[in-house]
Amino acid sequence: MINTIVEAGGEAVTMNSLDPFFDIEEGIARLRQEKNAIILAHYYQAPEIQDIADFIGDSLDLSRKAAETDANMIVFCGVKFMAECAKILSPEKIVVLPDSEAGCSLEDSCKPDDFRKFRDKFPDHIVLSYINSSAEVKALSDIIVTSSNAKAIIDQFPIDQKIIFGPDRHLGAYLAKETGRNMEIWPGTCVVHEQFNERELIKLMVNHPNATLAAHPECPESILKHADHIGSTRSILEYVTRTDGDEFIIATEQQIIHQMQLASPDKTFITAPGADGTCNCANCPFMALNDIEKLYLAMLNEAPHIEIPEDLRIAALAPLQKMIEFSPLAPNKNSTAA
Ligand code: 13P
Ligand code: SF4
Repeated sequence: MINTIVEAGGEAVTMNSLDPFFDIEEGIARLRQEKNAIILAHYYQAPEIQDIADFIGDSLDLSRKAAETDANMIVFCGVKFMAECAKILSPEKIVVLPDSEAGCSLEDSCKPDDFRKFRDKFPDHIVLSYINSSAEVKALSDIIVTSSNAKAIIDQFPIDQKIIFGPDRHLGAYLAKETGRNMEIWPGTCVVHEQFNERELIKLMVNHPNATLAAHPECPESILKHADHIGSTRSILEYVTRTDGDEFIIATEQQIIHQMQLASPDKTFITAPGADGTCNCANCPFMALNDIEKLYLAMLNEAPHIEIPEDLRIAALAPLQKMIEFSPLAPNKNSTAA
């Protein structure tokens, strides 16, 4: 896989060289002005990152924001595939990611060479790839989708259109069922959503009979079949905010509960359990690598930053632009601007 991350060089400032009394948040505010930077954050980021972000959203909202911003620097508080999308859409901007190791198990599960071979077995299929994939897999695709626009995009194709979908098998299975389409699905999974456990969920639902369950479509069918609402991170947030009720079970990464609590302080949000009955699994280990200190250093050092070979960028841009054209929603006005 092509390495699209450029690490900070030997001259870079490190945490150890900073005064221990240095005010990181003040430093971020100053660099934001000096470098004309915008801080974009996904809902799975730690609350202290969400609280200083200029914009918080799901993958689609963040891609749109990255495409339209006039900032010189995009500080992407999320994972690598998201920062890559920002660079593909806005190549003239500096795009930094606080931790270069912030990847994604779905991206890791789908190596470009293997995906090419899989694709070549079905020449009469179009290739729909989930945005949680590498730039190279995007370049092998006809159109990119996110969990918030996938169903609406698929519905725009004729019912007999054969489709390859990758790399998330649970999202693929959910979409095939919802749209009635014939799909060849790549067998990748998300380490977070894969671990929610039906038996423990049922126990939790029995103990909280009035709770409403909202789930991300990366969850297995055994979880989705119990859900009152299935949608992207923003869709789940909007649903629990507008729905009456005191208790909500959330089957997605638990940091999103920060925005839920801010929007609805009187409601109780419970993370869906894993096999051991706790919610410890609902923690994305990749998203958790970013923190406020690394964010500051990334802005200061302008690294780790994303660099994509131009031929690859152009090849990945076409299916990403098609996604934005095919997305029926107007640019999201409800995403949280901190
Ligand atoms: P959303 O597009 O719903 O924000 O999801 C991104 C993601 O990585 C879910 O695990
Ligand atoms: Fe990837 Fe899952 Fe983390 Fe989302 S929650 S970034 S799909 S590993």
